[in-house]
Amino acid sequence: MSLRRPSKEQPENFEFNPTSLEVAKSIIVKYPKEKQQSAVMALLYIAQKQNSNWIPLAAMKCIGKFLDMPYIKVYEVATFYTMYNLAPVGKHFIQVCTTTPCMIRGAYKLVEACKEKISKNENELSIDESCSWMEVECLGACVNAPMMQINDDYYEDLDKEKTLKILDKILIGETPKPGSYRGRTNNEPENNRKTLMDLKNA
Ligand code: FES
Repeated sequence: MSLRRPSKEQPENFEFNPTSLEVAKSIIVKYPKEKQQSAVMALLYIAQKQNSNWIPLAAMKCIGKFLDMPYIKVYEVATFYTMYNLAPVGKHFIQVCTTTPCMIRGAYKLVEACKEKISKNENELSIDESCSWMEVECLGACVNAPMMQINDDYYEDLDKEKTLKILDKILIGETPKPGSYRGRTNNEPENNRKTLMDLKNA
């Protein structure tokens, strides 16, 4: 689990732009009156999208005022969930799952690939400042372990060599195909296996 701290460099102000404001309002009206604080996670997500994929402290304060809730409560939510970035990340943001199923299937080989291609330490930008990476907890694709997420896409059934090739493509501005890198459709078994008893295709 990586260490998560708010960036030392923080903008002084944050305001929702008109598009974000419209989306935020459309979410808030879905909650009953007096329960609008329940929209905090959605608003944090909107703030993150608006602010190049990370949430400054000023945005947490803005959301606190917007939802009429104490800033510290917004801060608690933002700092608890790893899907909220507390410091700037690369335009290509790589999250490597290192929870147990991925770990026993070789997730640390993927981490090695990130260290070689992007930056020695997690949460650091690559030399061209286009990429950053971090370790995260289970991303819910354990059946295709080991895997990593790049922005909104999942790359699954990986090993070090495949990860290096994917990162090479990202670094030259290409978008590699997401999904399984063992040719599986979603998470279907390999070799057309239909049941656990199908030993012929196991
Ligand atoms: S353990 Fe890696 S996706 Fe679940």
